[in-house]
Amino acid sequence: MRKKLIAGNWKMNGSKSFNEGWVKSIHAALAAMGPSQNAEIMVCVPTPYLSQMAGLLENTPVALGAQDVSAHAKGAYTGEVSLGMLLDVGVQGVIIGHSERRAYHGESDSVVAQKVKACMSSSITPIVCLGETQEQRQSGQTNDVIQSQLSAVMDALEQDFERLVVAYEPVWAIGTGLTATPEQAQEVHAFIRGLLATKTRHAQDLKILYGGSMNAQNASSLLSLPDVDGGLIGGASLLAEDFAKIITSANAECN
Ligand code: PGA
Repeated sequence: MRKKLIAGNWKMNGSKSFNEGWVKSIHAALAAMGPSQNAEIMVCVPTPYLSQMAGLLENTPVALGAQDVSAHAKGAYTGEVSLGMLLDVGVQGVIIGHSERRAYHGESDSVVAQKVKACMSSSITPIVCLGETQEQRQSGQTNDVIQSQLSAVMDALEQDFERLVVAYEPVWAIGTGLTATPEQAQEVHAFIRGLLATKTRHAQDLKILYGGSMNAQNASSLLSLPDVDGGLIGGASLLAEDFAKIITSANAECN
């Protein structure tokens, strides 16, 4: 059975003192939940705080994630951060191809695919984001968009899928308060799993997360869907109490 993964995406938020307070709150909330916690938890923080968070999260079940990585191993790439550097500071997962990076930093499907491929030769779990815009959904292109974004990744990976995590994040739902309905989410997640199944026999073992205005109120209805294996949570992950409630919902689905 696939374990749920609840991953926070802090985006460009946080500070040394905020981070300390957040970890303290999550620690307390997890302790109050007791020992029967099955969901996997990760928090993806801005690069300058990775080292601090690695220390704060030690001896907690919360894994540390980054929000981007270079496809290159080292060299003249000013401003970039390599997989080796992420590993060096204790990072376990990384978000790749978030729609904000695609839109504001010109990341193409092929750049995203190269970054995911690079992760496969390390122990870092790539969480690759896919999703359509409002316009694309309204003009009936959702499946085509998802297929071309995912195909670029699958073609680059060939057979090497084991640790791939896919996040379906409809662009129109990110940070807007609009959430995909359970029907819309399940339909796209099942479509994604079908696409994965054309390339790997392990499609049933791969996690497909939902992201886009998931919060403490709507998490249960999304996490109970058969092909939704967790959430990539932006705004609500900054509120430790709400993030903890989402973890509780995921634990309820795992049991
Ligand atoms: P949101 O962001 O939960 O604030 O909509 C999700 C994401 O962008 O990963």
